[in-house]
Amino acid sequence: MPELLLPSVATILTQRDETPDVRTYALRFRDFAEQGRFSYRPGQFLELSVFGTGEAPFCLASSPTRPGGVEVTVRKCGRLTDALFALAPGAELGLRGPCGNGFDVDAARGHDLVFVAGGIGLPPLRSLIWNVLDERDQFGDITILYGARTPADLVYKDELREWERRDHVTVRVTVDRGAPGWEGSVGMVPTLFDQVDLRPDTSLAYVCGPPIMIKFVVKDLLARGFAAEHVISTLERMMQCGVGKCNHCCVGHHYLCRDGPVYNVREIEEMWE
Ligand SMILES: Cc1cc2nc3c(=O)[nH]c(=O)nc-3n(C[C@H](O)[C@H](O)[C@H](O)COP(=O)(O)OP(=O)(O)OC[C@H]3O[C@@H](n4cnc5c(N)ncnc54)[C@H](O)[C@@H]3O)c2cc1C
Ligand code: FES
Repeated sequence: MPELLLPSVATILTQRDETPDVRTYALRFRDFAEQGRFSYRPGQFLELSVFGTGEAPFCLASSPTRPGGVEVTVRKCGRLTDALFALAPGAELGLRGPCGNGFDVDAARGHDLVFVAGGIGLPPLRSLIWNVLDERDQFGDITILYGARTPADLVYKDELREWERRDHVTVRVTVDRGAPGWEGSVGMVPTLFDQVDLRPDTSLAYVCGPPIMIKFVVKDLLARGFAAEHVISTLERMMQCGVGKCNHCCVGHHYLCRDGPVYNVREIEEMWE
């Protein structure tokens, strides 16, 4: 199946700096027919290549309810992302995907939804949040809890404000360390739970962020009465092929790139047994 490993060519349409080292790219396949055929779920990811440099996985940060292109939000941290940041709109990239399982949007219909993100964990949840807001009448109340190290590290600042203005959407933001001018919460993400009305019986919770943040958030959600099946997260590993062929991402019998990266906490617990 050569198409699994063969990148398509995409063009950078626009780029927007979120923080000094995080940038959101809008991309479109060079072939319009291919762009039209491309479909995906929130929580899936792309293998993105900078020609002559290499390839790495990045979550789809846009919503499938908004066709015509895709968005990824990238933190600059090494060889590939340095090369990506050196490109400008109009430049061409390689794209493979969508890879992975993604979130089960249909299973979320009819539920209240709680999104908990830390740092660069917000992009995959942003995809699901816009999907849900674009099909608003099919979901219950929405709670979005987001934390970053400092105010300067918060991504999607305009969208956080826009989400907050929507009916039946509650947004709370915190930072680990404040800064001059910051009047919001200071503290780790779990401190936000006491600021909102959590309803474990009717809610699904989606948690993305650094592993240490996920660990404490999940523990807290379970202690507050969420069933392990109703807490959904993403597992990250170093990946190469992204399609279950190279063995780089195995955990037990799972290829996280193909069978994951999205699992509920019951499945994650069973994986480590
Ligand atoms: C499924 C998946 C989705 C991802 N989505 C995003 C995204 O939306 N936005 C984003 O900015 N990044 C995302 N990443 C991480 C991204 O793929 C890596 O940061 C990328 O490899 C960086 O490439 P580089 O050559 O610039 O840096 P490298 O030189 O490869 O790495 C820089 C540093 O990051 C570490 N690193 C690289 N990959 C990972 C990983 N998977 N887990 C932990 N540490 C790692 C390396 O050990 C090194 O210390 C995702 C990773 C996975 C597996
Ligand atoms: S990254 Fe190759 S098998 Fe998962």
